[in-house]
Amino acid sequence: MQHTSKLPNVGTTIFSVMSALANQHNAINLSQGFPGFSSDKKLMDLVTKAMHSGYNQYAPMPGNMELRQRIANKFDFLYGTSYNPETEITVTAGATQAIFTIISAFVRQEDEVIIFKPAYDCYQPAIELQGAKTISIQLNAPNYKVDWNAVKQKINRKTKMIIINTPQNPSGSVFSEADMLQLQALTENTNIIVLSDEVYEHIIFDGKKHQSACLFSDLKARSFITASFGKTFHNTGWKIGYCCAPKELMEEFRKVHQFNVFSVNHPMQKGLADYLKEPSHYLELSGFYQEKRDLFLSWIKDSRFQFNAAKGTYFQVLDFSEITQEYDVDFAKRLTIENGLASIPLSVFNDNHKDDKVLRFCFAKTEDTLKRAAEILNKI
Ligand SMILES: Cc1ncc(COP(=O)(O)O)c(C=O)c1O
Repeated sequence: MQHTSKLPNVGTTIFSVMSALANQHNAINLSQGFPGFSSDKKLMDLVTKAMHSGYNQYAPMPGNMELRQRIANKFDFLYGTSYNPETEITVTAGATQAIFTIISAFVRQEDEVIIFKPAYDCYQPAIELQGAKTISIQLNAPNYKVDWNAVKQKINRKTKMIIINTPQNPSGSVFSEADMLQLQALTENTNIIVLSDEVYEHIIFDGKKHQSACLFSDLKARSFITASFGKTFHNTGWKIGYCCAPKELMEEFRKVHQFNVFSVNHPMQKGLADYLKEPSHYLELSGFYQEKRDLFLSWIKDSRFQFNAAKGTYFQVLDFSEITQEYDVDFAKRLTIENGLASIPLSVFNDNHKDDKVLRFCFAKTEDTLKRAAEILNKI
């Protein structure tokens, strides 16, 4: 049988490649972005209780109502804004499914979607599966600042969507209030939908405030916000997240969602709903990760790697240009095979694989793991 791939340029992701290499060489794995510690026992007990209390059949298509209500309460509590849990919030199988469903519900062939590179890897294939065009705007190391004039040049009548991600994976940078205001001004009087990927909203450092799209009224009116419980509660394997948007946008989203997953794992939704009653469970997260970032960076401050401390996420990027001029993919592989430490080369997230000699390290790991990783980095 012969067929033409709809995604000819997609192969095995670098995450699988680096993790396999890490396993093969028994290396410390700071490549893939998952926490190296357990989710709260309290949360696991709540999920178990939900299973024993009969939450084992299909949840309502948009999500367990208690969970949607708690999510709405969180928006009110954190950002002073309201989303109607009946019509404006949908629980999804992780943020990935929310992102894919948003793109497939709105983006058509010939449309253009603007994304910022380095970018998380699920945006572009979802755009291209719709037959649409990705318009990449490359942000540059070490600050990854957006030049909004450059964005303005790229907007035209074909622009259907702009995808932003703050705090940003992989660079660890965050959008400021000024960035969000620029985006709001640029999209004013257009039909552009904004997809604001905010999965790291609770991991932001140095007292900075997360600039959610919902804080800006004109932006909120055109935005989907996507979120991930996996990132927030150390259980990426549960694949539960959610998205919210104004009613008219959410109606279209649900038309696709109901024929895609229909509804998401019910006992986990009920467990999460109960767990969310206590805001400290997410409020403590920035402090928890800031401590890890600071420890990791203090241990490598005299190494030959250069860095600006991550402003958010659980990723730290390190510049290795003083060590070698090797292609970053080759250096990342060598570091894994010869030195026993796996990371992700940033070029894989960049436009045309631009190589700034930067590697991404995930610091959502135990102190002991980070200490051993730092010892390796200090010897390079
Ligand atoms: C920026 C970004 N968006 C979305 C996701 C996907 O989240 P989930 O695991 O909830 O699907 C990730 C996971 O790494 C991410 O880093």
